[in-house]
Amino acid sequence: MIGVFDSGLGGLSVLAAIARELPRADLLYLADTAHVPYGARHDEFIRGRVLAIGRHLVEDHGCSLLVVACNTATAAAVNELRQQHPGIAVVGVEPGVKPAAHSSITRRIAVLATEATARSERLARLIREHAGHVGVDIVACHGWATRVETLHLDGPEFMAEVRATVEPLLERGIDRLVLGCTHYSFLTPQLAPLAQGRAELVDVAAAVSRQVLRLAGNHACQEGSGQLALLATARPEHLHVALPALGLNWLAGRCVGPAQHATI
Ligand code: DGL
Repeated sequence: MIGVFDSGLGGLSVLAAIARELPRADLLYLADTAHVPYGARHDEFIRGRVLAIGRHLVEDHGCSLLVVACNTATAAAVNELRQQHPGIAVVGVEPGVKPAAHSSITRRIAVLATEATARSERLARLIREHAGHVGVDIVACHGWATRVETLHLDGPEFMAEVRATVEPLLERGIDRLVLGCTHYSFLTPQLAPLAQGRAELVDVAAAVSRQVLRLAGNHACQEGSGQLALLATARPEHLHVALPALGLNWLAGRCVGPAQHATI
């Protein structure tokens, strides 16, 4: 069983990529909806949640591979999670700074992220190691993850905010726009038309799913019955509303039953 988790709905973008890559794997998705958004919280709190969720997925559900489908949680606690479960493969998600920096022609890229990821030492290190030769703008996008959670993705006010965030970056000459939060994959319909012809969106979901495939082979958890179990720490029923709203109705067909409430 592969356990995939996020603060809420954002990790569904990673889950969808994994489900496509490993159609027969048994998957469990956990949304920590009682505590979303993580991005505005202290690192210590996020670390506590990540370790508690990891323990729950391994000890109570028998997961043998964990995917931290959240940039914020990865930045705050993926090292500690690995230390806590030395026998388990743990895959984290980090903003695609490396592919963006290496493919940028204008030598200018931007990273959209939560407040916690934007200030993280992990992102600073990623930029130092892989993007020393390009200019990098980091933008903390307050409230965007909550927009996705509430499925309020349109509306002139939000569109104006997205445009006011992205337009100055494009004017400064960026040609890669890194989606540094898994929730922002679901803002592609809003972001892509603004960036069109000027910058490419960089989303790492597919790369993460290939990494999961590599590790799943070694951990013998890619052969199952292709079932998906859904868990949430609050409002589990919202997941069944979100799947079709986010264009993931096909995933609903893999669900073993209704989403369950998890007390963690
Ligand atoms: N989806 C998460 C990420 O990738 C966090 C969003 C949030 O809870 O603030 O960073």
